[in-house]
Amino acid sequence: MHIDEIQNGDCRELIKSIDNNSIDLILSDIPYGISADTWDVIHQNTNSALLGSSPAQIKAGNIFKKRGKPLNGWSEADKLIPKQYYDWVLTWVYDWLRVLNPGGSAFVFAGRRMAHRCICAFEDAGFIYKDMLGWDKQKAAHRAQHISCVFDRRNDYITSHKWTGWRVGNLRPIFEPILWFMKPYKIGGTLADNVLEYDLGAYNENILSKYHQKPDNIFHIEAQTTDKGLHPTQKPLQLMKLLIELTTKKNQIVLDPFAGSSTTLIAALELDRHFIGFEQDENYFTISQNRILNTRQTLSQTTLFDAIALG
Ligand SMILES: C[S@@+](CC[C@H](N)C(=O)[O-])C[C@H]1O[C@@H](n2cnc3c(N)ncnc32)[C@H](O)[C@@H]1O
Repeated sequence: MHIDEIQNGDCRELIKSIDNNSIDLILSDIPYGISADTWDVIHQNTNSALLGSSPAQIKAGNIFKKRGKPLNGWSEADKLIPKQYYDWVLTWVYDWLRVLNPGGSAFVFAGRRMAHRCICAFEDAGFIYKDMLGWDKQKAAHRAQHISCVFDRRNDYITSHKWTGWRVGNLRPIFEPILWFMKPYKIGGTLADNVLEYDLGAYNENILSKYHQKPDNIFHIEAQTTDKGLHPTQKPLQLMKLLIELTTKKNQIVLDPFAGSSTTLIAALELDRHFIGFEQDENYFTISQNRILNTRQTLSQTTLFDAIALG
């Protein structure tokens, strides 16, 4: 078990080295299975709108890949994509249950489109599904196409006028679900017994004011410029810190099996928690290593300045 480190490789293999009942929190932004980035393609379908080669897609060039959205119903094979996502979650979720301490939380950023499959897989594996929290991103691009533009391009201005104000696609994606699971506490004991034995099972409402949040299940946190540029799905550091402080105490161990640029691990480090991270992509692994190193240097400088200031 490599504590306070990130390892490069497939988390489904690397997690085997972690002991049973040894992790206090799993906080992970898992692949959502909806974009065309190699690391996010979970399904087997090579004839979908996502990676497809149907005649319409070939004619349209790269446009579907750029949008990165599988269109369910486009083909029979597309309809299997959610089921394949569920099957993929099952390839690792039993190990998550095994390594977590009783009463330990797992927070999963799973995306709106596949979250239901993720919830079913977690429940089927033995987790308790506590809640769906919301992250209100405060800002998000609204990419749904105006249908009248399509008719304009066809020089069909009468139809375009009829459809003015109508869009195809989704409303502005302003929130992301954060699925909150818990490993069941020990058989025969109460939740209070579990809190006494493992320091896990309750949440710390008091820390929410530090993040300017109410004790509601929606968090309003906008990504800062420092939360961008390392990974296409980088999450705000403050949001990860909030989730860690909500459910753990100092020196407890936080695991992120799908670390990306390691926002979870940096949050844990800055909050005096131990961490374990896995990332299979070499580029993001290197970015993570540098980020961890830089954070350690900054933290030790701060400690030094504090010591000097105190005399
Ligand atoms: C959604 S991103 C996480 C981004 C992260 N929240 C951040 O702030 O940078 C998920 C990451 O999981 C990685 N990944 C996907 N499958 C993996 C696997 N089997 N083992 C380890 N990492 C994996 C991808 O390469 C990707 O970087």
